[in-house]
Amino acid sequence: MASSVLTIIAILACAFSFVDANPNRKICVVKGGQSKDIDDAPAILHAFKECGQHGKVLFNPQTYYVNSVMNVSWLKDVDIDIHGTLEWSTNITYWLNNSMQVGYQNQSTAFIIGGDNVRINAFGTGTFNGNGDDWYKWIRQQENTSNYPGRPHALTLSRLTNSAIHGLRFLRSQMWTMSIIHSHNLVLDSIFINNTANTDGADTIYSSHVVFNNWTVYNGDDSISLKANSTDITIRNCKFRNGLGIAIGSIGQYNDQFETIERVSVNNIDYENTLHAFYVKTWTDDQNGYPPNGGGGGLGYLSGVEVTNLNATGLRGAAFAVSQCTRFSGAPGVGNCTNSQFQIKNVAIKNLSGTTKSTRVASLQCSAVAPCSNITIADVDLRLANSTLASDYLCGNLINPMGFTCTGDVCVGGSATGEC
Ligand SMILES: *[C@@H]1O[C@H](CO)[C@@H](O)[C@H](O)[C@H]1NC(C)=O
Ligand SMILES: *[C@@H]1O[C@H](CO)[C@@H](O)[C@H](O)[C@H]1NC(C)=O
Ligand SMILES: *[C@@H]1O[C@H](CO)[C@@H](O)[C@H](O)[C@H]1NC(C)=O
Ligand SMILES: *[C@@H]1O[C@H](CO)[C@@H](O)[C@H](O)[C@H]1NC(C)=O
Ligand SMILES: *[C@@H]1O[C@H](CO)[C@@H](O)[C@H](O)[C@H]1NC(C)=O
Ligand SMILES: *[C@@H]1O[C@H](CO)[C@@H](O)[C@H](O)[C@H]1NC(C)=O
Ligand SMILES: *[C@@H]1O[C@H](CO)[C@@H](O)[C@H](O)[C@H]1NC(C)=O
Ligand SMILES: *[C@@H]1O[C@H](CO)[C@@H](O)[C@H](O)[C@H]1NC(C)=O
Ligand SMILES: *[C@@H]1O[C@H](CO)[C@@H](O)[C@H](O)[C@H]1NC(C)=O
Ligand SMILES: *[C@@H]1O[C@H](CO)[C@@H](O)[C@H](O)[C@H]1NC(C)=O
Ligand SMILES: *[C@@H]1O[C@H](CO)[C@@H](O)[C@H](O)[C@H]1NC(C)=O
Ligand SMILES: *[C@@H]1O[C@H](CO)[C@@H](O)[C@H](O)[C@H]1NC(C)=O
Repeated sequence: MASSVLTIIAILACAFSFVDANPNRKICVVKGGQSKDIDDAPAILHAFKECGQHGKVLFNPQTYYVNSVMNVSWLKDVDIDIHGTLEWSTNITYWLNNSMQVGYQNQSTAFIIGGDNVRINAFGTGTFNGNGDDWYKWIRQQENTSNYPGRPHALTLSRLTNSAIHGLRFLRSQMWTMSIIHSHNLVLDSIFINNTANTDGADTIYSSHVVFNNWTVYNGDDSISLKANSTDITIRNCKFRNGLGIAIGSIGQYNDQFETIERVSVNNIDYENTLHAFYVKTWTDDQNGYPPNGGGGGLGYLSGVEVTNLNATGLRGAAFAVSQCTRFSGAPGVGNCTNSQFQIKNVAIKNLSGTTKSTRVASLQCSAVAPCSNITIADVDLRLANSTLASDYLCGNLINPMGFTCTGDVCVGGSATGEC
């Protein structure tokens, strides 16, 4: 009976339900202390140790308080069912000193999940609450607000393979919501994020074959960002609100390192009040300082991008933007914006409609050393408030535009958000 019900649910829910090949797997129900003063991290880690391989870990519909870091990197063939909320503490002194290295850009994290064949189901109700309001207030008081060392991501998928996350909600992430590094073959489906501040939705690094399906992201920074060595990435059926849109990069931050972003498919995206629909940011060829906020001089290319069926309401900037002049925040406002050796090529953006506040459809500030090539922009119907068509295509160092004609010269100047 139970197994036939499971089978029916599996058929109805199609690719995103999990059919249990082992109905006798050991189940660990996580016991929480039901108080902010009791750190539930040890109980959660205990459940993962007992049932994290060939078992099932179950979070009840209650709040679990997480007051310390969790590194759960050894999972194998496990179901993780989350019916409740995990709420992270706001002891900033603790987190700055204890959050764990992600392995890129000196970023750090509060929670690492890694392993193989991990199936997380949160049923559209399970929630990770990063309690970020305190972080947002605190960061505004700091001298350097960008990539503050030790400020943790809510969740890092690290060396995670052949795995899926379904129906998980994220509220008020401390910093980036989800970093995905050294991970392959992931389906991340029906994820809801509501950060009220400038924090990324998700960032991929050294990862491949990742599907983002049915994400809704309310945030202020990159909705989803694909960074160094992200390949075979699919983003589809998503809603992005208030953030910067889909970002490629920043990339080219590590001097002499060869990094690529290849085979990216974006389809059926609805935007509201985002800065861009799709944008690319690369560092210049001049190295100034070191990551997280300094760098430059990287090599490589972006290639094989298909972006189709976009619907936008109230875009705030160019729908498609490229800046190859990302540079050290502390560097003086002069420098060479066109010497990046990182090349942008084989990008097609088709079928984009809706409304915009910017007259710019495209702002393409490419490198003179490695000009943008094979860029297609076609079937665009973006209207301004007075219903005239947005019609500016601003270009610099672009070979052979396809589907459009450049209407003017692009602004050339330092930028971390695609336009200057
Ligand atoms: C915050 O964490 C620090 C360092 O771990 C600790 O010494 C301090 O007691 C904690 N503060 C509170 C209010 O829990
Ligand atoms: C930082 O953490 C380390 C190791 O966890 C600990 O030894 C040290 O006392 C902590 N420092 C502060 C200021 O909390
Ligand atoms: C997480 O745990 C794994 C396995 O114990 C270890 O190899 C890794 O270094 C840990 N990561 C961090 C950032 O502490
Ligand atoms: C990297 O982070 C550590 C703490 O997590 C910090 O001490 C160090 O200054 C950071 N490095 C840079 C270059 O910002
Ligand atoms: C998409 O995700 C939302 C949560 O953001 C959920 O309510 C909705 O049911 C999902 N849609 C589908 C078709 O799975
Ligand atoms: C996001 O969070 C803010 C702040 O709590 C709230 O006002 C807003 O309604 C939330 N948005 C959604 C779509 O849940
Ligand atoms: C990134 O990809 C390039 C090209 O495939 C490869 O040469 C390089 O080693 C990769 N870098 C890392 C850190 O994996
Ligand atoms: C685009 O979004 C607007 C506003 O949400 C909506 O009215 C319209 O139907 C959408 N169009 C498409 C093609 O999805
Ligand atoms: C802030 O950044 C500037 C420029 O990188 C650096 O000189 C300064 O030391 C930083 N301040 C702090 C408190 O980290
Ligand atoms: C920027 O660097 C490129 C490549 O070295 C060079 O061709 C170009 O003249 C430089 N531009 C400026 C303004 O210095
Ligand atoms: C141009 O780019 C598109 C989109 O990535 C790709 O399908 C096509 O093969 C490219 N053409 C050439 C000649 O490389
Ligand atoms: C519509 O608005 C744009 C941007 O403000 C302006 O440049 C253009 O002249 C306006 N067109 C008409 C017909 O009013």
